[in-house]
Amino acid sequence: MNTQTHTAPALLHRFAARMDHVQPSAIRELFRYGADPRVMSFGGGYPDASLFPLEAFSTAYQAAIEQHGPLALQYIGTVGVYRLREQIAARMCADGVPCTAEDVLILHGAQQGLDLVARMLIDKGDVLLCESPTFLGGLIAFNPYEPRYCGIPMDDDGMDMDALEHMLALHPEAKLLYTVPDFQNPSGVTLSLERRLRLMELARRHDLIILEDSPYRDLRFEGETLPTLKSLDPDGRVIFLGSFSKILAPGLRLGWAVASPELLDKLALLKLAADSQCSTLNMVAISLMLETFDLETHINTIRDTYRDKKALMLHTIREHFPASVHYTNPSGGLFTWLTFPEGFDSARFMLEYALPEAKVAYVPGATFFPIEVRRNHARLSYSSAPSQMITDGMTALGKLLQQHLG
Ligand SMILES: Cc1ncc(COP(=O)(O)O)c(C=O)c1O
Repeated sequence: MNTQTHTAPALLHRFAARMDHVQPSAIRELFRYGADPRVMSFGGGYPDASLFPLEAFSTAYQAAIEQHGPLALQYIGTVGVYRLREQIAARMCADGVPCTAEDVLILHGAQQGLDLVARMLIDKGDVLLCESPTFLGGLIAFNPYEPRYCGIPMDDDGMDMDALEHMLALHPEAKLLYTVPDFQNPSGVTLSLERRLRLMELARRHDLIILEDSPYRDLRFEGETLPTLKSLDPDGRVIFLGSFSKILAPGLRLGWAVASPELLDKLALLKLAADSQCSTLNMVAISLMLETFDLETHINTIRDTYRDKKALMLHTIREHFPASVHYTNPSGGLFTWLTFPEGFDSARFMLEYALPEAKVAYVPGATFFPIEVRRNHARLSYSSAPSQMITDGMTALGKLLQQHLG
């Protein structure tokens, strides 16, 4: 059989125009380097797989088949298994978002929510406000719908609200604002309470819909939990996305949306078109697991592990990096964000020095900027690297940076 792996040039012009905006990401490129076993990669945002509760999964999947028989493998409807929706609603209520199972749509991870929300709301040229830098997976999901990005700068308290207000004055027609308020990917920073309140006030004044993407919310190491934007939303203008990826395992591909009925109904219709539903077996098994498995204790274990790893990474950075490199100190989540002096190109440095000489990979920051690309940043993840690798990798990178910046 002729297995053609490349698209014949004659076929390229048959692609829809939106395919111009569907391009491989820098992170995908990075995975090629990650394949070299000598490379210490702090690039990927994978959770620590040694924390996946394998025994509980094994019991739950067996129980799903035993208790539900063939129904565990049958179609079930787009919105998902009712009991799991109830369990998610109960967790959301405990987190200050009053809702019921009817307000929950089960998704193939939060990532699917980004695609469906963009499909629902974005026409070509619509203004999409987002943090700058923002989650790369968000840009990948939004790009095919051809929004006009307006990036809002951030500091250690999250999105700058004066800058947002200014942007809204320039673009009063803006419709959607995308934010990762808790332990943002890539920067690790959290939107302060004061700014959450101001954001909701601006959203009300400008009739914005807010897409609140918070897969790291449960992974707080220190400080007080801040209210979700959804909990500050009496008008139903916030779509909240949650996920089991970082608190159970990403391979489940289970996340959820909580939104007002008008928005949720439309999202469910789009999900029906996209994939009909999530895996019945996965939903039934995880629902059964949540009946007996102590998720809160498990989350505490994950938090403790990442807290320790973050402390080790920042300690080593402090010891070995030149003082001219700034790093964020996240109160949760998986990432710290480096800022190098102006003029420093982190992608070039990685290719020319960090990879060949220190065998260290990170994600160059340029890839996370929606429009105005800045090259003097990098994202480091401490979640999946073993402790020794964190020490060795940060020490080696620090020495190299000392030579070039010291
Ligand atoms: C901010 C953010 N949103 C969404 C996702 C996607 O998560 P999920 O695995 O639930 O699709 C990620 C994953 O890394 C993320 O960092």
